[in-house]
Amino acid sequence: MQELSKEQVLKIMEHYGNDPQQVIAILLDIQVSSGRNYLDKKWAVLASEVLNIPLSKIYDIITFYEMFSLQPRGEYVIEICKSPPCYYTYTKEVVKWFEEAAGIKMGETTADGKISLVFTNCVGACDIGPAVKIGDAVFGELTVNRVHTLIHRCLSDNIKPLVHEEL
Ligand code: FES
Repeated sequence: MQELSKEQVLKIMEHYGNDPQQVIAILLDIQVSSGRNYLDKKWAVLASEVLNIPLSKIYDIITFYEMFSLQPRGEYVIEICKSPPCYYTYTKEVVKWFEEAAGIKMGETTADGKISLVFTNCVGACDIGPAVKIGDAVFGELTVNRVHTLIHRCLSDNIKPLVHEEL
């Protein structure tokens, strides 16, 4: 995927009316549009100028929310919940399944740039745990087979933004 241009980033901000109240949505949109799930520092600077928000505040937001990254990541970022009660019930096993299926460790990205494995806080699916989030989609009731199916789907660009999709 081609790198985002300044015009594209300005357009994203315009889409939100250059409204500083929408800064989180704007930064998320820029991150998703990057194709590598990250915010280039130059877009943080541009957002600061256009939205008239101090750059330090923009960085506060980026570092506070785990969904943001200043480093390029995989096309598909698989977010594994590490909040209690998931952590004590499932997380260790789920991490093992994903690491084995993707062939990388937590925090890493596959060599082809397709998949990153990261931790996140509660994805709001405690009732269908173990659960993970990939983009806008939450997948629950994971088993080792479902984890392999999810990895396969990421590799074949077949992840759909559905909540609790049946695998
Ligand atoms: S605590 Fe893990 S999904 Fe809510």
